[in-house]
Amino acid sequence: LAFHSDVARYRAAVTVVEVIQRSTDFLARKGVASPRLNVELLMAHVLGMPRLQLYLNFDRLLQEKELTAARDLIRQRGNRTPLQHLVGSTSFCGWDLRVGPDVLIPRPETEQLVERALEFLQRRTGRGERPWTVLDFGTGSGCIAVALAKGSSATRVVGCDVAAAALRVAAGNVAAHGLTDRVSLVLSDKFSALQPGERFDLIVSNPPYIPTPLIAQLDPEVRDHDPRLALDGGTDGLAFYRVLAADAPAFLRSEGRMLLELGDGQAGEVRAVLEGQKWVVEAEDADYSGRIRFLRARHQSLLPAGARESRSSES
Ligand SMILES: C[S@@+](CC[C@H](N)C(=O)[O-])C[C@H]1O[C@@H](n2cnc3c(N)ncnc32)[C@H](O)[C@@H]1O
Repeated sequence: LAFHSDVARYRAAVTVVEVIQRSTDFLARKGVASPRLNVELLMAHVLGMPRLQLYLNFDRLLQEKELTAARDLIRQRGNRTPLQHLVGSTSFCGWDLRVGPDVLIPRPETEQLVERALEFLQRRTGRGERPWTVLDFGTGSGCIAVALAKGSSATRVVGCDVAAAALRVAAGNVAAHGLTDRVSLVLSDKFSALQPGERFDLIVSNPPYIPTPLIAQLDPEVRDHDPRLALDGGTDGLAFYRVLAADAPAFLRSEGRMLLELGDGQAGEVRAVLEGQKWVVEAEDADYSGRIRFLRARHQSLLPAGARESRSSES
């Protein structure tokens, strides 16, 4: 009997590299982008090792429970559950963050938004005065708030969001990075629960910007797994840019700026929305694929009087 069960175990035994190869083919058939990378990251998660260490373990036989766990994750990934939900975390600006179905998975473009915000803050904090303050409007996982507070020790951040479940995730990330003294979180529908009279040096936002009718056409990972609240920018995708254009000036200090991430192809429309509310667009920047995705603006009411007059006489 012992002999037979040994033989059965031997026949069932598979190595790490075999599972990687079969699973890669499976995910490719299911239409998952970068299938091999996905499989390697899931295998590394199951085996509790960094991905590159898999290469030193290719011939290792998987234990039954490891195989079961790997199969389960690969099956879910094949059903287009996002990789980050399966492993429970993601990397953002080099920081490890917990994520899940209650928050938008932070995107690489947003790391570029953070870079621009940090450049702005570095110019300010170089003046060496009071703590500088940022509002992260629609904080979600807290990725922007955490990365800004980590990247600029003289900065305090308020992250606001209408989703209580998202704020719980953000709170976990803020605490895990030891930032509870400099990052606070506010449950707020748009600006409604912010302290009246509170003013920030910078308002940064990656707001929901997908036009409602286009949500159905998104990849399943996004359409079925990112919270709809994090995607839906109203009929034309511009609803939150209108809110920010109208309401943000009351929450900015003089010299304050607003820095926004935009959907691909929205730059002209967002600029028009802002200019219609007396914002001066100072910078439009492209992402790595050359598309305008970031916009920095200041409000005319916050310009020094002389500059305000010359601006209005220009227009
Ligand atoms: C595109 S996600 C951005 C999340 C995160 N800042 C990031 O960059 O990954 C937009 C966020 O706005 C939040 N949001 C949606 N409607 C809102 C509202 N009315 N007031 C405040 N936040 C809102 C969503 O819950 C979501 O977390």
